[in-house]
Amino acid sequence: MTKNKNNQAIWGARIKSNTSSIFQKAGSSINIDKRLYREDITASIAHVEMLFRQKIISFKIKNKIVYGLNKIEKEITKKKFDFSERYEDIHLNIEKRLFQLIGDEAGYLHTARSRNDQVITDFKIWIRSATKNLIIKIDKITKSSLKLAEKNVDTIMPGFTHLKNAQAISFAHYLMAYVEIFNRDKKRFTNNFQSLDENPLGAAALTGTSFNIDRNYTSKKLGFKSPTKNSIDTVSDRDFVLDFLFSVSVCSMHISRIAEELIIWSSDGFKLINLSDKIVTGSSIMPQKKNPDLLEFIRGKSGISYGNLFAMLTILKGLPLSYFKDLQDDKEIIFKSFDNLSDCLKIFDEILKNISPNKKRMLELANSGYITATDLADYLVINYSIPFREAYEKTAKIVNLAEKKKKRLDQLTLEELRIIEPKLTKDVLKVFDLKNSIKSKNSYGGTSFVNIKKMIMNYKKQK
Ligand code: ARG
Repeated sequence: MTKNKNNQAIWGARIKSNTSSIFQKAGSSINIDKRLYREDITASIAHVEMLFRQKIISFKIKNKIVYGLNKIEKEITKKKFDFSERYEDIHLNIEKRLFQLIGDEAGYLHTARSRNDQVITDFKIWIRSATKNLIIKIDKITKSSLKLAEKNVDTIMPGFTHLKNAQAISFAHYLMAYVEIFNRDKKRFTNNFQSLDENPLGAAALTGTSFNIDRNYTSKKLGFKSPTKNSIDTVSDRDFVLDFLFSVSVCSMHISRIAEELIIWSSDGFKLINLSDKIVTGSSIMPQKKNPDLLEFIRGKSGISYGNLFAMLTILKGLPLSYFKDLQDDKEIIFKSFDNLSDCLKIFDEILKNISPNKKRMLELANSGYITATDLADYLVINYSIPFREAYEKTAKIVNLAEKKKKRLDQLTLEELRIIEPKLTKDVLKVFDLKNSIKSKNSYGGTSFVNIKKMIMNYKKQK
């Protein structure tokens, strides 16, 4: 008969004294892994159903255990469950409570499994739904970017390289770059389902089990494609944790880059975009201030995501196969990364809904910095059949002339242009028009208005 006194650890028959209280406190993970309670119960129910089908436990015992587990789930959901550090983690807390509820027959639940396979089964199921949750949030951002892009196809701004004016672009083209970025993030998260689709349950501690279990049955029940293939690898593997943390890091990095860009664009030096009062905060001393704190918050959080990825890589680097207590920290790391990114995605969506372009300023800035110089060089190549390098040189001379005369390129007269290239006619003047410049960039993926409209349509159809 299983002696499982309520105040005794599961291993009380072997280990006579209580674990030292400092370790009980520090080594317990219940305050973190209680987030896995639903997954733990689902996996346990699948496990006992399998044990019954395989005639390892009786119908009566199976029903009793399932009844108890369902009751525990309700207790936890209704916050009526007493989590105890004494029982270390969520798995043992639930098992202990099961004993209280149904008596010694609870002892059949742990037949043919170990916490080692149990914990990663729960964890994989949890990461699967966390991944789906993040994908939904990424989709929302894509939608908000598309919406803003649709309104701004005709909004002209300077495109930058090295943060110097480069060539004219549509603001919508920038926003559609975000759509590409977030689509890749979505794909990265979607690809991770592959490393999550093998079922660890049944690997037991590390050797598998002598019981005649059916791992295909539990795989199907728990939404896995197939069982894992090697029991030692199963309980040692945390690649799926790294995949998740890496994908979170890349997505955080993307939002951080965009946040940094928006901070620059909203700064007093640039003034290219306005942030509504919903997404700024004031200063405690300077009454005039409206600071982009939310954007800075997002930028900061990407550092924490990278830290979490590195923490996990470091935990794993010197760890022999198979299970070691070191691995317990994987949960805290993942939960933090998930919570962080989840918040950042929500905040970023709010930001997208609360920014507006300062069209006048965008156009003004686009008209400076000789931004149509490349258009002029292209024009020379097309109209005078000269090599691009020669056209580049002539254009550079024209830019030098404009600079000397303190004029923009479109303010130079035809006579002045002809000092450098006598063959020019007044037809050339059209290349200095920003709209013409943007229209002309109609190569696939370019900033032409027609291209952007097509891309927006394509993505809207996909939604
Ligand atoms: N809370 C533990 C963890 O997450 C469960 C696994 C315990 N296994 C063991 N052999 N101590 O790592």
